[in-house]
Amino acid sequence: MTPRFADPDSRAIPVRIVPKAGFDDWLGRQDEPLRDWVHACDFTGAAGQVLRVPGPDLSVARVLLGWGNHRDHTRKRFQMARAAATLAPGTYSLDGDLTANATEEAALGWLLAGYRFTRYAGKDRDVPLLRVPRGVDAARLIAIAEGEFLTRDLINTPSSDMGPAELEAATRDLAARHGADIQVTTGDALLDANFPLIHTVGRASTRAPRLIELTWGEGPAVTLVGKGVCFDTGGLNLKPGASMGLMKKDMGGAATVLGLAHMIMATGLKVRLRVLIPAVENAVSGNAFRPGDILTARNGMTVEINNTDAEGRLVLADALAFASEDPPELTICMATLTGAARVALGPDLAPYYTDDDALAMALSHGAARVRDPVWRMPLHRPYEAMIEPGIADLDNAPSGSFAGSVTAALFLDRFVKDTPRFAHFDIYGWNPTAAPGRPKGGIGMGARAIFDALPGILSI
Ligand code: BES
Ligand code: MN
Ligand code: ZN
Repeated sequence: MTPRFADPDSRAIPVRIVPKAGFDDWLGRQDEPLRDWVHACDFTGAAGQVLRVPGPDLSVARVLLGWGNHRDHTRKRFQMARAAATLAPGTYSLDGDLTANATEEAALGWLLAGYRFTRYAGKDRDVPLLRVPRGVDAARLIAIAEGEFLTRDLINTPSSDMGPAELEAATRDLAARHGADIQVTTGDALLDANFPLIHTVGRASTRAPRLIELTWGEGPAVTLVGKGVCFDTGGLNLKPGASMGLMKKDMGGAATVLGLAHMIMATGLKVRLRVLIPAVENAVSGNAFRPGDILTARNGMTVEINNTDAEGRLVLADALAFASEDPPELTICMATLTGAARVALGPDLAPYYTDDDALAMALSHGAARVRDPVWRMPLHRPYEAMIEPGIADLDNAPSGSFAGSVTAALFLDRFVKDTPRFAHFDIYGWNPTAAPGRPKGGIGMGARAIFDALPGILSI
């Protein structure tokens, strides 16, 4: 499924944006048949109302889209996607006085509404197409939507078809598409190459663990690290059924950095990009790692395992240590790392951690501009005591239920060196309730915000 716009010179049915403010004045300026039709259909300009206006032959001549008021827009993103979700296949155009930013959001929302996950059922139906609005960089929006669709597809694909090998294959496809290089270290080779934690977490699965590395481009170095736990049973600290149900999405960090990598490569951003994905399945078998085990990470730090379900920070520890050996200007880590993050901020606000105020400012600005909300969380150093067990350098799972997302971030931070600009996102990767442009299921979080902020952060 690929997002696309209609030809710029194709015939289109205009979709008129009708705000609630000034609705009566607007209506007063319309001709009588339209006024009657609007009244008869009870159209008030409320957010999300879609009114088809028939022409003389009773075909749809134009469409009115209720735009609501300012509050509706701070509450809901992608209002335009409501029209895209409701209207019949055909070609439409945007008609209304929107700011450049709102026009972009409308056009992107339209593209995002076209997503379908059709790998196992259903078909790629025809979707209504939007003519590129004036002033909009179509290629850029297509790249963003393609990146988001990639993320959604990867997360939605169940673990039976998205194990470590399939995640590697997806990364190879992406690399081939953009002429990027790829290197993969698999199975016991992880031990020789000194990725002990990735190997330990992944060794109980029949599907070999691996570290996937993609490199591309020239410019300031940016390293993206994504948690690729293709299924998280919890290991010997087995998750109860209800908590395990959605764990195909535990490679959501990997899926999101791959989506972001696509946006970067497809738009030819002038960066030296490196993507690192520790891809494993956290499984149960006789050779699974155990609670109480003490492991030595790539950087020599020892970690006491107090819960095999805190596996994400282990595989990321090796990947982040590796990333720090060739310190980039910016390191971004994305992971479905803790249930605590979801408890703190809910499913669609991405918590992130950084020590760098300027980086945080840039990310928050980008997030607001492209309506991809993120929220800065504290790397509160005094809590480091909670991840220091005494018997080893670090504890992977502090007992007690305090600040679980913060302590996980502090754990990761111990493996990042010589990289002042570091941000870690503890994302959920899943949309539990469908909304305009955001179907239920796998979803990217934070990638569009980062993509928007990157040029400013790197001065490119
Ligand atoms: N993948 C989970 C985190 C998760 C759970 C994300 C539910 C989103 C929804 C992670 O590997 C995990 O199990 N974390 C544990 C850590 C704990 C044992 C310290 C958690 O959050 O409960
Ligand atoms: Mn886990
Ligand atoms: Zn996990």
